[in-house]
Amino acid sequence: PRKIIIDTDPGQDDAAALMLAFASPEELEILGLCAVAGNVPLSFTSRNLRIVCELCGKPDAKVYEGALKPLNRPQVTAEHVHGKTGLDGAELPEPTMQAQEQNAIDFIIETLRREPAGTVTICTLGPLTNLALALQKAPDIASRIQELVMMGGGCFEGGNITPAAEFNIYVDPEAAKIVFDADIPIVIMPLDVTHQLLTTRDRVAKIAEVGTRPAQVLVEWLAFFERFDIEKYGSDGGPLHDPSVIAYLLKPELFSGRLCNVEIEVQSELTVGMTVVDWWHVTDRRRNATFMREVDADGFFALLTERVARL
Ligand code: BDR
Ligand code: CA
Repeated sequence: PRKIIIDTDPGQDDAAALMLAFASPEELEILGLCAVAGNVPLSFTSRNLRIVCELCGKPDAKVYEGALKPLNRPQVTAEHVHGKTGLDGAELPEPTMQAQEQNAIDFIIETLRREPAGTVTICTLGPLTNLALALQKAPDIASRIQELVMMGGGCFEGGNITPAAEFNIYVDPEAAKIVFDADIPIVIMPLDVTHQLLTTRDRVAKIAEVGTRPAQVLVEWLAFFERFDIEKYGSDGGPLHDPSVIAYLLKPELFSGRLCNVEIEVQSELTVGMTVVDWWHVTDRRRNATFMREVDADGFFALLTERVARL
């Protein structure tokens, strides 16, 4: 299996991504899970991450806590999307498992230095603060990362927290800039992809038919998360962002995109946090990221449903 570290700010859609990963041990070996401040403060994202581990029957998973706030900006959160705890929508017990003593930044550094170069994939589902701090502290790890697969950014689809910016990048644009400048192979799942992954009534009904406790909880989370999105986007179901990252590792053929230059805007008041995508190669700047644009949405939901049934 491919070795991965998941860095996340759960989040109902982060939780769905974690379920997909936990349900796929043949393809993915999860070395550790890192919590970062994002949708809600770190104390909640760490708690939520542990709740999801326990729900998925993985109380031995290694959870590491990372950055409490963005590199040099005040924290921005998204309770308006995810609820007060970040994981509102389902009744679940408080976790009994603890986070590890080691912090997420040192865990990322140590793991990348210990494992053979080019064998560890980083998956980020939230702001890029933890990875940026690790790169600042240990620049040598950049060349050891097999691939960074991340949910964040947008281009043709616009932004979701400002007209120009997607939430994960907007929250910590300086961190995103460090990561995009680091010469790491990057695959981006932007809003252009995730806005095609709509949790329509039919798709959610199929997850409900699975009938297990994890499937039922996922349906409750999606119902909560959707409330906001349906009003906002006027569609049958809201976009499901973060599981696209894990789905790409399992079935890359579901996605298509283009290797191009992507830069992060960190200055402009109007467009801070924007991913500036050179889709048409109008510059000769380094092609540093594969920017995904299309997805087989039915194939994605079939995969998610089939895997959640294995939990
Ligand atoms: C991203 O922001 C968060 O609210 C979601 O979990 C996802 O990672 C979408 O913009
Ligand atoms: Ca997230």
